[in-house]
Amino acid sequence: MKAIMVKPPERGIKFSNFTEDESVTGQLKIRTLENGICGTDREIVAGLLGASSIPKGSSEMVLGHECVGVVEEDGDVFRKGDIVMPVNRRGCGQCVNCLLGRPDFCETGNFVEAGIKGMHGFMRESFMDQEKFLVKVPGTIMNFAIMAQPLSDLEKSVEEILTMQKRMRWNCNDGTFNCRKALVIGTGPIGTLTAILLRSYGFQVSVLNRRPANEREKRMFEITEVNYEDGGNDLINMWDSGKTYDLIIEASGSDAAFVGKSIHLLKNNGILGIFGFSSRGSAVLDHSAVQSIAYKSIAVVGLINGQKPHFERAMNRLAEWKSKWPGLVDEFITRSIPVNDEKEIRSALENKKSGEIKITIKW
Ligand code: BGC
Ligand code: ZN
Ligand code: ZN
Repeated sequence: MKAIMVKPPERGIKFSNFTEDESVTGQLKIRTLENGICGTDREIVAGLLGASSIPKGSSEMVLGHECVGVVEEDGDVFRKGDIVMPVNRRGCGQCVNCLLGRPDFCETGNFVEAGIKGMHGFMRESFMDQEKFLVKVPGTIMNFAIMAQPLSDLEKSVEEILTMQKRMRWNCNDGTFNCRKALVIGTGPIGTLTAILLRSYGFQVSVLNRRPANEREKRMFEITEVNYEDGGNDLINMWDSGKTYDLIIEASGSDAAFVGKSIHLLKNNGILGIFGFSSRGSAVLDHSAVQSIAYKSIAVVGLINGQKPHFERAMNRLAEWKSKWPGLVDEFITRSIPVNDEKEIRSALENKKSGEIKITIKW
């Protein structure tokens, strides 16, 4: 079958033929309808993702961890024709978190990730999978359901932040989070989805970027009442101007310096979530930042990978957004490329155009 292959740590992609043993019992055949492209795919294609590795026994790996497909045969839970999304990280089979379905907290680090680390991905005509790794896609959100994969990572992140903040009373005196201020650094797909998700939870949300908002961002943030800060990316300026936050999420994946500087912007009991993989710079914590961490009871947490409960929540969330903010969900898919347009796919995997949210490949 046709597949988009990579060979990390080598750069580049290949459109080639991939064969899979379809006789394995306990698995259903799923025909791919659509894949999403994300920053992780681009890092793999650029040969920059150190954690990426080829599945055991293979010489190449099928790329792709964002996928919507159609079930081709009846199973125990799913029926032929059901639309599904596969969960992308699978457990190590050894540690307790993995054995309990939470490889996002794998203890051994031996988990695999489709199209990223040690497991073939979904940028191929079809794949075989166990039903327990499949999540049903509601028909009403079909047009933008691919967003549920990145959103699952963020549902998990917000859940983790709220769990950590149970160390005290963090809700407001009306029981909501409406009085809490959040800052999201970066307005790429992850920053944008995080900001909107936090609005759903009731937070007052600002996003920060180093340039003015583009037209799409203006529309999306107006609908969802997110405040856009063109901060020139200088967090210290914001600090000087007295802006402080209960929650900061680093979602830009650019300069590690944001991490050090963010500490200064946090209020008492504040929390800093690090989602992006910084690709340069260093996080300098001067003594006053270290003092703040202790004195203000600040928490710092790494955020990664959603699991099946978060995929399910993400599906519901997209349905909620569709009815709550009509117009918003139409902005998510900025471009769809037919699978035969190899030149366009290659270019979409090699460069990201500024302002793009999600590019999909249609099978
Ligand atoms: C995926 C996550 C995954 C992470 C690290 C992201 O692009 O959405 O689910 O855990 O990459 O590989
Ligand atoms: Zn991704
Ligand atoms: Zn594990």
